[in-house]
Amino acid sequence: MQRAASANPFCDGRRVSKGDRILRIIVTGGAGFIGSHVVDAYMAEGHDVLVLDSLWEQGGGRRANVPERASFVHMDIRDENVSRIFSEFKPEVVNHHAAQHSVAISTRDPIYDAQVNVVGLLNVLENSVKAGVRKVLFASSGATFGNPERLPITDDTPQQPTSPYGITKMVAEHYLRYYRSEKGLDFTALRYGNVYGPRQDPNGEAGVIAIFAAAFLRHEGVRIDWDGEQTRDYVYAADVARANVAALERGAGGRYVIGTGVKTSVNSIYRALVGASGFDAPVTHAPRRPGDARDAQFDASRARRDLAWEPSTPFLDGLQATYDYFKKAAIPR
Ligand SMILES: NC(=O)c1ccc[n+]([C@@H]2O[C@H](COP(=O)([O-])OP(=O)(O)OC[C@H]3O[C@@H](n4cnc5c(N)ncnc54)[C@H](O)[C@@H]3O)[C@@H](O)[C@H]2O)c1
Repeated sequence: MQRAASANPFCDGRRVSKGDRILRIIVTGGAGFIGSHVVDAYMAEGHDVLVLDSLWEQGGGRRANVPERASFVHMDIRDENVSRIFSEFKPEVVNHHAAQHSVAISTRDPIYDAQVNVVGLLNVLENSVKAGVRKVLFASSGATFGNPERLPITDDTPQQPTSPYGITKMVAEHYLRYYRSEKGLDFTALRYGNVYGPRQDPNGEAGVIAIFAAAFLRHEGVRIDWDGEQTRDYVYAADVARANVAALERGAGGRYVIGTGVKTSVNSIYRALVGASGFDAPVTHAPRRPGDARDAQFDASRARRDLAWEPSTPFLDGLQATYDYFKKAAIPR
């Protein structure tokens, strides 16, 4: 942890140029893929950011993702010392991105999933109340909806999660509602579609764009399950980060679907990467994975209305930027 000494050892008392007060914000999971884009966006707005992250070996977190000017605490969200960090930093807002983030791991080890995604969340919420935090922003998921009968998914679509991960994310939304009504801790939950962009872990079991981009750059083949015509709603990480900026002051007590409304198939991702790289990666076909939905598509009208948010990155631009990032970065193995 590096910060100048003052009444608050973490805060240097800067003000942002437009006269707004700097917020002290703890971003849990801020060394990870999405969390680090949120940290970048908050730093760009002039806020004072502390990242709390365990750099979990099965997650996408890397110390190098955290900008130098942000404070960094290497700690598990379940640790009892979280209380000390919260009471010293005195955050006004907590942005909670730390999680067991994988559907596949949650099905193999639902107990671990619940320990991090439920008990870890509760440790963050209890300490938020004690430290007088005004608001918690939460990274929820389209996985809370399961395989809905109708598309697009809206904020009124019934939540029927089909994995332990989707269940713990849904439970987390209920805890947030409880803490708001009973303890006065405000929240906004953002239910992401499939987020993609620079810094996504290409070695995980999910994140097809990062996995494919890395394979193309290594001149390796890719595996396409089912017939490749299954679609997802891919939303660019920088657009997601802007939703997290908007939710600092808007969307009190709200839960919002964050997606583009555009369905993109695995085959079209493959073709776009052939175009970006000039390499015809060999394809192996595999059967549909159990539980895989055919299509996903999100209608973010409520976020547009309440958060004044909309995605601004066309898919092919985001894909090119992601590919260019992996080309420049040493791809972590
Ligand atoms: N990637 C997506 O498409 C997507 C979609 C919906 C929701 N989300 C949610 O967004 C958040 C970020 O996901 P991501 O894709 O950036 O994953 P990520 O693995 O890159 O980021 C998660 C971060 O949390 C940290 N972490 C994990 N367990 C922790 C613990 N016990 N204590 C402290 N830190 C811990 C990891 O080290 C990592 O830095 C997660 O909450 C995830 O569930 C992601």
